[in-house]
Amino acid sequence: DHSAPPSSELLEIAIEVARDAAATAYRMRVEGVSVAATKSTATDVVTAADRAVERQITKALRRLRPADAVLGEEYGMAERGTQPPARVRWIVDPIDGTVNYLYGLAHCAVSIAAEVDGEVVAGVVRNIHTGEEWTATVGGGAWRAGQRLRCSTESDLAQALVVTGFGYDPRRRAHQARVVAELIAHVRDIRRLGAAAVDLCLVAEGRADAYYEKGLAAWDQAAGALVAAEAGLRIGGLKGLAPGPDMVVAAPPALFDPLHDHLARLDAAGGP
Ligand code: IPD
Ligand code: CA
Ligand code: CA
Ligand code: CA
Repeated sequence: DHSAPPSSELLEIAIEVARDAAATAYRMRVEGVSVAATKSTATDVVTAADRAVERQITKALRRLRPADAVLGEEYGMAERGTQPPARVRWIVDPIDGTVNYLYGLAHCAVSIAAEVDGEVVAGVVRNIHTGEEWTATVGGGAWRAGQRLRCSTESDLAQALVVTGFGYDPRRRAHQARVVAELIAHVRDIRRLGAAAVDLCLVAEGRADAYYEKGLAAWDQAAGALVAAEAGLRIGGLKGLAPGPDMVVAAPPALFDPLHDHLARLDAAGGP
């Protein structure tokens, strides 16, 4: 059977799996976590919890949806049994905001998205510490605690609270710092909160006006970007490109072009 299940069904699975995963992450944090290894740079760390939580999520998805593909940050594409190629792919960030998690800062989350034929159709982001849980299905709106989410209606960039993040590569950070240094004169203020998935969800409910970041991977943004889009934000990359590793901008429609234009100008001004 090659039919894909409705997005609501995929969302229910994502929520169930994310709740158990967040509980594991919380328990491991209480028991005490430390750096297990470094990845791309000395500050790009992974803890035992990142790995254990991803294994738990993959195992649960395998049990509930054996024919689907799973892409996670720590283990990449999980092995699948017999083909045909999967129509459903799960995109998993077991702990988004690992550095916050390590330091005990309550801004980190489990992020699980479901893609059907390459399009993200359902996603959940669950804060490990607060239990805040943002969900969305394509066309079905974005939700938290039974409330439908609407993004900010701010239309003046000078009044906008903008959230951003930085990657782990020091050379890229120098460029990202130059962009922030320029942009800060044109906006209300800038926040660097430390978990891209949660950042996108906060913007979805108007707890900040807009978000941008360069260097995101699929798992950082798959669920959060759907939540943001379903809350009315316009999501894009630079110069008409799709959002991706090069840039993700999420802004209320009236703010998108002004913010984008600053970012495009500053990005063109150089840097890796
Ligand atoms: C990171 C966080 C951070 C963002 C980085 C991501 P991780 O993900 O989302 O806020 O600025 O670009 O890599 O490593 O904590 O899952
Ligand atoms: Ca992440
Ligand atoms: Ca992560
Ligand atoms: Ca990471």
